[in-house]
Amino acid sequence: MAKNKNNQSVWSSRIKKKKNSFFDKIGSSINVDKRLYKEDINCSLVHVDMLFKQKIISFKVKNKIFFGLNKIKNEIIKKKYIFKAEDEDIHMSIEKRLHEIIGDDAGYIHTGRSRNDQVVTDLKVWMKKSTNEIIDSLKSLQKTFLKLAEKNVYSIMPGFTHLKNAQPISLSHYLTAYIEVFERDKKKFKDNLRSLNENPLGVAALSGTSFNLDRNFTTKKLNFLKPTRNSIDTVSDRDFVVDFIYAASMCSMHISRLSEELIIWNSDAFELIELNDKLVTGSSIMPQKKNPDSLEYLRGQTGIIYGNLVSMLTILKGLPLTYFKDLQDDKKIIFETFDNLKTCILLLNEILRNIKFNKKKMAELAETGFLTATDLADYIVRKLNYPFRKSYNITAKLVNYCDQNKKSFKDLKIKEIKKIEPKLNEDVLEIFDLKRSVDSKKSLGGTSFDNIKKMLKNYKKELK
Ligand code: ARG
Repeated sequence: MAKNKNNQSVWSSRIKKKKNSFFDKIGSSINVDKRLYKEDINCSLVHVDMLFKQKIISFKVKNKIFFGLNKIKNEIIKKKYIFKAEDEDIHMSIEKRLHEIIGDDAGYIHTGRSRNDQVVTDLKVWMKKSTNEIIDSLKSLQKTFLKLAEKNVYSIMPGFTHLKNAQPISLSHYLTAYIEVFERDKKKFKDNLRSLNENPLGVAALSGTSFNLDRNFTTKKLNFLKPTRNSIDTVSDRDFVVDFIYAASMCSMHISRLSEELIIWNSDAFELIELNDKLVTGSSIMPQKKNPDSLEYLRGQTGIIYGNLVSMLTILKGLPLTYFKDLQDDKKIIFETFDNLKTCILLLNEILRNIKFNKKKMAELAETGFLTATDLADYIVRKLNYPFRKSYNITAKLVNYCDQNKKSFKDLKIKEIKKIEPKLNEDVLEIFDLKRSVDSKKSLGGTSFDNIKKMLKNYKKELK
C-alpha cells in the first residue's frame, strides 16, 4: 500500500491494519501497471497544468509538481526507481514518490481527480498508441503479401474448396486475398480509435467534481477528440477493452487460418512451400525432420487471445455501475493480448518474407483433378447453346471417362470427346489450358491476369 514519507499509507488515517497484509500482496497490481508509468505521469502533468490554468492551484505548486513528476520520469527511465509491491499500483507509487520529493504539495495532484478516472485515462492513452502500432504492423504484413503477389501473377496453382482441387487460380490472386483479410482487421482496430478518443479525465470518482475543471483543455492536451459525456459511465466502461481484444481475436483467427493452410502446404503430401531453416525445428529422434513449429506456434497463440476475450467479458458480466476492483485485471489482459498479437504479426511477416513457393509442384497439382471442368461446362453452354445443367452432365461424363481410362483432360483426343458429345469440335481442346482458364475469369474480383494487375496497382497506392 502506498505510504507517505512518514511511512504511513495514504489512507492510514481511516484504515488501521498491519503492514504487508496477505491481501495487500495479492491486490497489488504494480508489477503489471508499471507499464503505464509514462502515460500516468503525462496525464498528471496535463491535469496539474489545467488545475493551474483554472486557478485551482498556484503557480508555485504547479511548478513543484512538474519538477517532481519529471524527476520521477527520469528515475524510471534510468532504472533508478524502485517499484514496490506494497505501493499497490503505479498511481499510488508515483504519488508517494512525489510526496518524498516535494512534500505535502504532492497532495494537490488529486484535486478533482480520482484513481478511477486516472486509470482509465492512462489505459486509453496507452491503447491508442498500441492500436496504432498494431495497425502499422498489419500494414507492413500486407506489404509483404503485395511483394509476393507482384512476383507471382503468372504462377498457376489449384484453388481449393473442401481442400480438393477446384479451379486454377493465380498464386498472386491467392496472396492478395490475405491483403483483404488483414485490411478488415485494420479497419476494426481503426474503428476502435473512436471510443479510445473520448477523454475520461476529470469525471473524478464517479459523479464529477465541484472544482471548476476544464475537461476540454485536458482533451486537447492529451490528443483526445472529445471528453466523455457521463461521469458514471466513464469510470465503469471497459467496452473499449473488449473491442480491442475482439479485434485481436479476429486478427489472430485469421493468422491461425493462414498458418493452418501453410502447414498443409508445407506437408510432405503437398510440398507447395518451403520454410526457411531459421523458422523450422528439428526432431529429437528423427534426423530428417524439419517441422513447421513457427506456424504451429502462431496457430496456438489464437487460443490464448480467445481466452482473454472470454476472461474480460466474464469479468464485466457481473458488475453494476461503477468502478470495482475486478476491473484491475483489464490491464493484465490487454497487455498480454497486445504483446501476443504484435509478436504473431511480426513472426508471420518474417515467415512470409522467407517463404519459397514450389511453383513447379503447384503447376503439376493444378494439372490433376480436372480443374478446367467448369470451363468446359461453360464452353459447351456458349458453343452449343445448351442449358448449363445439360453441359454439366456432358462434362461429368467426360470426367468419368477419363477416370476410368486413367487420363487427364489434356490426354483426350477429339474422337473420344465426340463419342460423348458429337457436336463438339477441335476448339474444345483449348479449354483445357490452365492459363487460358485463369485469364478467362474476368468478372469483377476474379482471377484473370488483367484483374490482378489492376488490383496490384490499387494495393500499391493504398499501402504506400
Ligand atoms: N489499480 C486500480 C485499477 O487498476 C486503480 C483504480 C483504483 N480505484 C479504486 N477505487 N480502488 O483498477
